[in-house]
Amino acid sequence: VSDSAAKAAVAIARKISNAIKQHQLIGKTFRLGLATGATPVPLYKELIKLYQQGDVNFKNVHTYNLDEYDEISFDNPNSYHGFMRENLFDHINIPLEQTHFPSGDDPAAYDREIASVGGLDLLILGIGSNGHIAFNEPGSEKDSPSRLIELDASTIADNKQYFPDGDMPTRAITMGLKTILDTKTLVLMAWGDSKASIIAESLSCTPSADLPASFLQDHPNTLYFLDHGSASKLS
Ligand code: F6R
Repeated sequence: VSDSAAKAAVAIARKISNAIKQHQLIGKTFRLGLATGATPVPLYKELIKLYQQGDVNFKNVHTYNLDEYDEISFDNPNSYHGFMRENLFDHINIPLEQTHFPSGDDPAAYDREIASVGGLDLLILGIGSNGHIAFNEPGSEKDSPSRLIELDASTIADNKQYFPDGDMPTRAITMGLKTILDTKTLVLMAWGDSKASIIAESLSCTPSADLPASFLQDHPNTLYFLDHGSASKLS
């Protein structure tokens, strides 16, 4: 639990940059899963800062985003492709062909692609107010594949602020829980009072599809990074 999201972001960015460097030393690709939304923005700022300072180099990194809206133009700044370019990819030295997203044409191909390279090394997660991770909405089983999903009414309510023209897609392509839970290290971040209830519940309830983030309880190497607000309902 950190004093602020910015302080936690410094620690997480350092952890990621150290892991990238260790992989570089032994000539291995580092496979990093990435979230969009408000939560990871402080982390992306820190990673850009480390890159600008010469502390980290992304040439041996491949990234795998968690999700993308269905039927959205990648030029739309609210697409997750657009979000990632604006908040990270355009500011670091990652070749765009090393950045991967699930595709609506064949969503489960994403699982096969990731499994064929030995899974992800580290994956950044936020949490939805309904307990979703990526867009695995309540009802998603722990072995769920990457797939097209109807967004929950609560997710649409939370995210429609980003679509002032009222054109928010109601479906998305999400990485499934199986690929997420097969990742070596998971880092879940949550900031602010509005996430306090779902964080406390996700850690105390019996793991079930009703609250997909609760499946992280069974993962052998998951780290939660919180601030005082999001940690305020932990007993
Ligand atoms: C986004 C994603 C979602 C968000 C979650 C929280 O790629 O996977 O699960 O992490 O909806 O969103 P924010 O961070 O905007 O509160």
